Amino acid sequence: MEDIAGKITALAKDASDESRRSIVEALQELQIAIEWPDDTVARIWGGHFRAAVVRVGIDLKFFELQDRAESPSCLSLQSHHTRILQTLAGHRIVKETASDKFAATELSNKIASAGSAAAIKHNFDICGPNLQALPAYLKRNGYKNPNDAHDRAFHATFNTKQLCFEWMMANPEAYEQFNVYMAGRTEKQVIWIDRYPVLDDTDPDTMSPERALLVDVGGGTGHQARNFRAKYPNIPGHVINQDQPFSVDQAKKLPSSGIEHMAHDFFTPQPIKAAKYYYLRSVLHDWPDDKCTMILSHLIDAMTQDSLILIDDKVLPSKGVPWQMMQADISMMAANASMERTTAQWHRSFDAVGLELVRRVVYSPKALETVTALKQK
Ligand SMILES: C[S@@+](CC[C@H](N)C(=O)[O-])C[C@H]1O[C@@H](n2cnc3c(N)ncnc32)[C@H](O)[C@@H]1O
Repeated sequence: MEDIAGKITALAKDASDESRRSIVEALQELQIAIEWPDDTVARIWGGHFRAAVVRVGIDLKFFELQDRAESPSCLSLQSHHTRILQTLAGHRIVKETASDKFAATELSNKIASAGSAAAIKHNFDICGPNLQALPAYLKRNGYKNPNDAHDRAFHATFNTKQLCFEWMMANPEAYEQFNVYMAGRTEKQVIWIDRYPVLDDTDPDTMSPERALLVDVGGGTGHQARNFRAKYPNIPGHVINQDQPFSVDQAKKLPSSGIEHMAHDFFTPQPIKAAKYYYLRSVLHDWPDDKCTMILSHLIDAMTQDSLILIDDKVLPSKGVPWQMMQADISMMAANASMERTTAQWHRSFDAVGLELVRRVVYSPKALETVTALKQK
């Protein structure tokens, strides 16, 4: 068995993302084929349990301590800690090396990173209760596809009429954690500027230090603006990160050389006119179609002839969507009455506001991450 496992591991290590995904999918099918069906069912309902113990492990700093520990025995354990660690070991998140001795793994070290811990906390604390409310919400609305930002599972979950980001403004701890989660998503990953041909778009005659080069609309704490300026220090023009006041205040505490931060509500007219790029990453997927139209219309009003809107969002195939993307889609449904969109759904949104496709760059095929460049018709 070890021999087979070793061979498969070696195969996956050198494989392309696509081949690696098919190896993982084949192994998932194999697991279901050979495990006891009762265990498969228990793994389905037990998803909550695994998430809960990981969440406790983060609070107790198990993963951070293990990441730094020279030996597993550096952790001083109390009996209830052992129960948590035994559960984590059962899920192969940590390794049980002896009675009451647990060692870190590559996976537990990954969980120890700020971005992963924030992702787990946000998805457990905010999305978890929201998903609990989804079945009752859908039953009540007759299983219609939610498309009204003011009528979602989220309202019942948090007993509020506020939109998700309005609620987060009133819950700063949740917002701060969400922003760390968002910023962490770009760590050690291919990002849009690794693949998008910025230099093909930026004619030196039309760029100037006075003009805005890139406005990152809903840019969170400015990680993409920072990456952009670092990669293109010599293209003249302002690089501006816009977001809600809370995120902008958080962003200003981070190194911000070469970029500017501006509080701006994207449901109001865009104050930066004639920018080369208006860039939106993971923004439109948060909103149903009518709200996307409002956001895009304000940008269109600010555009000049050579301006481009860059939508950095997943583009789903119409069939065979990987589970990670459907997970994101259901999360959008519960939180925002919105969705991850297919090519056809995106085109309908662009046509509705008079935008025309310039180019589409799939910069991360694994995650279906795509930049779509659009100009006015
Ligand atoms: C899913 S996050 C994406 C953040 C960032 N673009 C990224 O990819 O990491 C959506 C962003 O939209 C911002 N946002 C929500 N409502 C907004 C509004 N009305 N005006 C401006 N920004 C808003 C949020 O604060 C958040 O930073």
